[in-house]
Amino acid sequence: MNYALDRFAAEVRSVISASGKVPEALIEVQVPKPSIPADLCFPTFRAAKEVGMDAPRLAQELAAAVSGAVPPDSLIGEVSAVGPFLNFALHPQHLAAAVLDEILCASDRYGRESTGAGKTIVVDYSSPNVAKRMHVGHIRSTIIGQSLIHIFRALGYRVIGDNHLGDWGKQFGIIIASVVREGKPQTEGEEALAHLEAMYTRYSEAMKDDPALDEEARQWSLRLEQGNADARALWQWCVETTLQVNQRNYDRLGVSFDHVYGESFYEAMLPGMIQQALEMNVARREEGGAVVVEGLDEKLPTFLLQRSDGGTLYLTRDIATIAFRMREFRPDQIIYVIGAPQELHLRQLFALSRAMGYAQEVELVHVAFGTVFDATGQALSTRRGNMVYLETLLDEAVARARGVIEQKQADLSEEEKERVAEMVGIGAVIYNDLYQDPRRNITLDWDRMLSTEGNSATYLQYSYARCRSIMRKAEQALSVERLLPMDPTLAPLLIHPTEQQLLKHLARLPAVIREAGERYTPFVIADWCYTTAREFGVFFEQCPVLKAETPPLREARFLLVTATAQALKNGLSLLGIQAPERM
Ligand code: ARG
Repeated sequence: MNYALDRFAAEVRSVISASGKVPEALIEVQVPKPSIPADLCFPTFRAAKEVGMDAPRLAQELAAAVSGAVPPDSLIGEVSAVGPFLNFALHPQHLAAAVLDEILCASDRYGRESTGAGKTIVVDYSSPNVAKRMHVGHIRSTIIGQSLIHIFRALGYRVIGDNHLGDWGKQFGIIIASVVREGKPQTEGEEALAHLEAMYTRYSEAMKDDPALDEEARQWSLRLEQGNADARALWQWCVETTLQVNQRNYDRLGVSFDHVYGESFYEAMLPGMIQQALEMNVARREEGGAVVVEGLDEKLPTFLLQRSDGGTLYLTRDIATIAFRMREFRPDQIIYVIGAPQELHLRQLFALSRAMGYAQEVELVHVAFGTVFDATGQALSTRRGNMVYLETLLDEAVARARGVIEQKQADLSEEEKERVAEMVGIGAVIYNDLYQDPRRNITLDWDRMLSTEGNSATYLQYSYARCRSIMRKAEQALSVERLLPMDPTLAPLLIHPTEQQLLKHLARLPAVIREAGERYTPFVIADWCYTTAREFGVFFEQCPVLKAETPPLREARFLLVTATAQALKNGLSLLGIQAPERM
């Protein structure tokens, strides 16, 4: 926590304290309203009351005392009293020097810190089901989860990403029976999973009028549970086929997991878990044999840990997963990135783990997200038939991105166009999931998602490429390497209001990353990226870089463009979005 704005805040607190006029505990500094021309302020009301003085008077006295005490190289610039407020402005030249230095020296690491050192977080995300395509719910979980992983790693936490694959449960009896009946699909990629889904549906339908089929599925389910070799082999084939199909899409999205244990991994632990819940009197065995949990909290309906036929449930596997994760990783937090419809499931799970004593040392967090709508305002759903699946979504995004790039007519080779289209298409899909609060619903509206002007990944990528293009043009004469360590006379030239505005904004990235972690909201970083691109646009319009009035000013602006590009790239990478060199 030692970035320029952190040091500025610490200095402000320290000069107030050194005045001896205010007790330490009452020094609370804030960011003033946007209309106030200051960067931090100290509202003196509480302190004034304490020392028995009226607030404006205290502010006046403090201003006089503090002004003389600011060290010459401080980040504090002007200090003034306005009514009851003591206002502090950043020192423009010192700010410019500090921010440029920080970004250019730290480069890829700018914004990172060690707040989370020594703490562990498990992120449970993506978690699609075997023998099915990944639909928008899993897509959202994958994208939001991966960004949270980037963010917490940047904050210094040890982060473990686990894809809790849906590879166990009653449905596998039917899946296997249908594969035995119809044979393995001969198709590739997502098509193969679509086939398995169709086979499953056909079998379930046929089962309704044919008790023999029903019995057949039941038998396979039983064999699988008992470890029968044929059943295991067919199940294994389903799992591997699904993982293979998904892997290609994960690669395209830049997603990688530390573990893919899947629900099946916990199977052997379930009897022990159920036993433990019974012994602790958290659960009760009913006459029919079912194990139920009730009365954990008056708002929770009764739920099952085991069915009367001995079968276990999704929730049983989830509680075993918590027990395992506690033993294996000793996490401080487990974050579940799952859609809002599973809210009740998680409330039950969290309540049960508290009752069983697992949640004492861990914070369980549900990061819920909203639904996806198509451009006509219809919610995407399997039942409605307008569901969108991951592979198809990514292919369409990239094809459309290619169209946008063709229109821009940048002189790119065919190969480069393809590479950039992949970055832009995938970036558009990711950004659409991350640019607003995850709880909100999102819309698949390609025109907005790929717009080169609005709040889209395309616009941000385009802004980055623009910075890089300016840098390439300037590079014959200038290079960052040659300008580092920085000539101390350069940064102080950056005092134009748009330069200052941009510098202050770049200085906020570390605090923005912290906030994104505290609130589990990548959109805070997306917002920062969008404002960066806009501020850069305003600066570039008003301050010529290559044609700056003097050579030193040109060099200073070149450094600012370089820092902007670097910071923007860092922000985008926390979202999982790549930044193209040309576009
Ligand atoms: N496979 C589940 C589904 O598709 C999501 C699993 C989420 N993770 C968990 N620990 N319950 O609905």
